[in-house]
Amino acid sequence: MRVSQSLCDREGKKSMKVRIAVATTDHRHGIASVAAKALGVRVEPESPRVQCILDAGYTFVALAEGRIAGFVSNFNTRDEKGHSRFELDLLGVAPAWQGRGIGADLVERSMQAARDSKATTLRALVRCDNMPMQRICRRCGLQRFQSACQLLVSRSKGSARDCSREIRARIIAVDTLTYSGYWLEGELSQCAIDAARQLLQAQPGRAQMGTVVPLSDRATIDLLRANSFEVIGDFDWWTLNL
Ligand SMILES: CC(C)(COP(=O)(O)OP(=O)(O)OC[C@H]1O[C@@H](n2cnc3c(N)ncnc32)[C@H](O)[C@@H]1OP(=O)(O)O)[C@@H](O)C(=O)NCCC(=O)NCCS
Repeated sequence: MRVSQSLCDREGKKSMKVRIAVATTDHRHGIASVAAKALGVRVEPESPRVQCILDAGYTFVALAEGRIAGFVSNFNTRDEKGHSRFELDLLGVAPAWQGRGIGADLVERSMQAARDSKATTLRALVRCDNMPMQRICRRCGLQRFQSACQLLVSRSKGSARDCSREIRARIIAVDTLTYSGYWLEGELSQCAIDAARQLLQAQPGRAQMGTVVPLSDRATIDLLRANSFEVIGDFDWWTLNL
């Protein structure tokens, strides 16, 4: 484990002490700043959702020279068998601190937290072209799912038809540092999409729904696109059995 250690940057310029710690609400502004710089996403530091996620104890910060150099935010969901799954959700290292092993340290700290939480798997969704993150996942022992996937997201709350057919998809409520919404998993059908839309309509605090589909499953991707889902990009699932 490389949880707390002295690091040299890649040119070996200067040794720096970097400490990985459980994030608290005191870190919320620093996390928001790194999220903006590293990921280009907005984290609302005063949002009750953000406070709640930090209180859960599964967000970690890398502290260097008294400042936040990086963070990782995780949470648990359940898989189709009801087993606890640890989602490595959002990871960012400030550009000035990248390439010094901080990203890998944050993933390793998440792995430890996943084991402590008694989850059976840890997983991370990584853009196919994100080479630093792909390398970290491989180096940390995660396995890449054989088929690349497409991530699709919809914010459409348009009126949905009632459907009496059995739904085989799972609609999972998630609260992340950047949004609250639903993830759709399993067998996606028009009825499942309509059911998720109805949930979105009924829950104004939940802004979007997302799903990850193997690139080979053209029929499902076409169905989602016909339902106003926007393609975010091509991603790989990386998982670790715990
Ligand atoms: C991805 C990210 C978190 C990595 O953090 P980091 O502290 O720079 O990562 P590390 O120093 O631990 O390791 C990076 C690995 O990628 C490699 N790497 C770094 N830049 C690279 C590049 N441009 N191309 C290929 N590999 C690269 C490093 O050599 C290292 O691999 P190695 O240990 O096998 O040599 C950071 O780059 C980042 O915040 N990026 C933007 C946000 C992001 O992509 N987050 C992840 C979303 S899933």
